[in-house]
Amino acid sequence: MTKYITTPIYYLNGDPHIGHAFTTILSDVLKRIYEINKEDCFLTTGTDEHGQKNQSACEKSGLDFETFMKEKSEVYKSLFDRLNIKYDYFVRTSCQQHKDYVKQCLNYIKKKDLIIKKSYTGLYCEGCEQFKKLSDLDSEGNCPDHKKPPQQITEENYFFKLEPFREWLIEFIKQNPEWIQPKVFMNEVLAMLQEPLEDLCISRPKSRVSLGIEFPFDDNYITYIWFDALINYLSTFAHNKTDLNKYWNNSIHLMGKDIIKAHCIYWPIILKALDFEPAKKVLVHGFWLGEGNIKMSKSIGNIVDPKEVIDLVGVDTLRFYLCNTMNGAKDGQVSINLIKNTHNLLGNNLGNLVSRSCKMLEKYCNNKIPTNNLVGEDRELLEKISISFKNKISTINNLENIQELSQLIIETGNLLNGYIDKKEPWKLGKDITKKYELESCLYTLMEGLLLIGCAVYPIMPTVSDKLLSIFNLNKYKIDLNVFKTNILEAGLKINVIDILFPRVE
Ligand code: MSP
Repeated sequence: MTKYITTPIYYLNGDPHIGHAFTTILSDVLKRIYEINKEDCFLTTGTDEHGQKNQSACEKSGLDFETFMKEKSEVYKSLFDRLNIKYDYFVRTSCQQHKDYVKQCLNYIKKKDLIIKKSYTGLYCEGCEQFKKLSDLDSEGNCPDHKKPPQQITEENYFFKLEPFREWLIEFIKQNPEWIQPKVFMNEVLAMLQEPLEDLCISRPKSRVSLGIEFPFDDNYITYIWFDALINYLSTFAHNKTDLNKYWNNSIHLMGKDIIKAHCIYWPIILKALDFEPAKKVLVHGFWLGEGNIKMSKSIGNIVDPKEVIDLVGVDTLRFYLCNTMNGAKDGQVSINLIKNTHNLLGNNLGNLVSRSCKMLEKYCNNKIPTNNLVGEDRELLEKISISFKNKISTINNLENIQELSQLIIETGNLLNGYIDKKEPWKLGKDITKKYELESCLYTLMEGLLLIGCAVYPIMPTVSDKLLSIFNLNKYKIDLNVFKTNILEAGLKINVIDILFPRVE
């Protein structure tokens, strides 16, 4: 089976924060899970390089467009590399392939008589790059996401007719109740579709915004950034129709809840007009709230810098924190202190388990895997662990399941730590008649570590690599078949590894 996973493409008007890191981390976790399930998976992320916000930021920087876009896009790319994101293609909407494809799409839709030119007066929020209705604003007349009043502008522009597709879209959503997850967002989208849809303004006069893709049939205009950006999901495969169809039919969009209108109303309608099916699935997450308990955003300036977090606790703790703390559709809290606490918790849980187990193996078995002839309850314990990991990883289908996997990892750490406390191997070690029981216990612990090492791979790839290196298995390609018991051979010499989660104060 094929899977095509996409993240939103990010604006360049500031440095990436935890919110951006999060969506991209989730996409990578999902890709790694699909790989364990032996699915052919293509992941794209990238940068959205046009529009008014990017233009204003570029003008402030004093750089020319090209240099600004290249430098800023590189900041995202290098962060995603540090975060161990296995993207297959890094989108940049300023690339020629994308620009040509967008123009092709506009021409296609125009031929269908779905584009009209007219004058329009509206309230424009630069932060959202969208016109707002009065009902979209808060009680003070501000955009609720950007805490600023939108500007009133009157302009002649090109518009794309959405209303002819409204009934079709409602029907599509009702027929596909799993399309948007979690369900609350499906209900939000259905509520938005209760009212007739206004025509979507898909151009900007060059006199106001010049950073964008020129309109193919009127060179006084550039293409509206959202129309341009959404098409990145197709333009990646512009030169390969077979791949386009293969991947598009199994496409999964990941995003924060702020952009569901664009992805669940504008985008499926654009696709329909282009004779494509909607994406297969839309997985939505809540926001990370920063200082002031408000959505972290570049425009507000309350961001948690992922680079700072990585320097302090490493990439894997950050990935784990975000996966473990996300709260379905709800918003989550993030701060350096909360992440530090999770890091120390991982140390007490997995870190402690590894160091206790390895020390005992050294003391009692000279760093060699003992007999694999296990006592019944030890075999049962390992079977329970391997089956629960296998079941979880083979059924992951939405973002909440990722949180469940992170929880299962912690629970397994607790289970094995509790097992050590109950078994008291140090007592067994003093009694020669208990040698068999001791060896069975140590085997169980080492194989438990191996299973954890495989199960943490999607969320904590570096930790996985370290755990597997204990058994010289770090180059091993993990698939579902590893989740069984009796993998380790008696006599195997294990490697000692460094402390997994060195404590931070
Ligand atoms: N460029 C558009 C997306 C175009 S996709 C065709 C855009 N860019 S953005 O840089 O402003 O934000 C992109 C995404 O970052 C959001 O949808 C969301 O996925 C993520 N987040 C940004 N801030 C966030 C939080 N505070 N918390 C969680 N995720 C957030 O929108």
